[in-house]
Amino acid sequence: METVLSGIRSTGNLHLGNYYGALRNFIRMQHENNCFFFIADYHSLTTHPKPQDLHDNVKRVLVEYLAAGLDPEVSTIFVQSDVPEIPELYLLLSMNVYMGELAKTVSFKEKARKQPENINAGLLTYPILMAADILIHKANKVPVGKDQEQHLEMARHFARRFNNMFDVELFPEPEPFNFGQNLIKIPGLDGSGKMGKSEGNGVYLADEPDVIRKKVMRAVSDSGPTEPNQPMAEPIANLFTILDVVSSADTVAHFRDAYNNCNIRYGDLKKQLAEDIIKATEPIRQRIKDISADEEYLRKVTKMGADKARASASKTLQEVRKTIGFKSF
Ligand code: TRP
Repeated sequence: METVLSGIRSTGNLHLGNYYGALRNFIRMQHENNCFFFIADYHSLTTHPKPQDLHDNVKRVLVEYLAAGLDPEVSTIFVQSDVPEIPELYLLLSMNVYMGELAKTVSFKEKARKQPENINAGLLTYPILMAADILIHKANKVPVGKDQEQHLEMARHFARRFNNMFDVELFPEPEPFNFGQNLIKIPGLDGSGKMGKSEGNGVYLADEPDVIRKKVMRAVSDSGPTEPNQPMAEPIANLFTILDVVSSADTVAHFRDAYNNCNIRYGDLKKQLAEDIIKATEPIRQRIKDISADEEYLRKVTKMGADKARASASKTLQEVRKTIGFKSF
């Protein structure tokens, strides 16, 4: 069985894009692979969350993972900061990573531009921590979006470098893993680009029906088709992309025909879209509430996850320490 690993930073609610683009595939993968899914709370520290928010941020993502259907009995679901072996491996890996290669990482340059008042060393060494996350479990397959591919490539470099340096085959080189035909990209409601956490263009799994209705009714559209079968502008194509995912084939066909015949009313389209999003996410919304209130269950899940993750991590770390030359007296 191959080992799949992915993490998500605890910096906000999960949205429809996270769900249809990633989580739903994680849920399918659980049974065919040895899966690790974790909440990257150390990675969230680069933006200096307030102490009183840190725990709630972690809880939010954990609850939403579970509510979406990740099964803690099948996958290893854990919190990064519960596994001290990760920062230890990060320290050991960092000795063979060079300033130059970190400084030229695209994500680092972008972050440095966006937050010039806070270009901390954690931002610079972010890819080393991410490599430690992956390599500590000897993961082979890492499902990530395009924006993380460079980080994953660096993890491969660091793995290979370690193996070559000590002439061992300790770390497998982790490959990006995407879902081929199943890859669904959910666009945002602001007319262009994909749904994002920080773009303010998303529908969250935890949003109440009224909030969803408001967001969808405000979605960018255009002044409507003037010729039969006219190609759709991006904002309209985007609404149809989401409709395709959440609505029945009949509903989609109805609105496509209306568009092609130039008698579509975007208000009707949006109303239907909102109701179908609400229906599609209803069970998850309910589970978010139930799981959120069940502190006992969350304690059990995180304890179980931490135990499983630490067992796997300490095994790798021991091999690494031995390879480097550490010995006890
Ligand atoms: N950097 C990833 C992101 O921002 C989150 C992450 C941290 C991750 N460690 C990881 C993803 C290891 C995959 C594997 O999306």
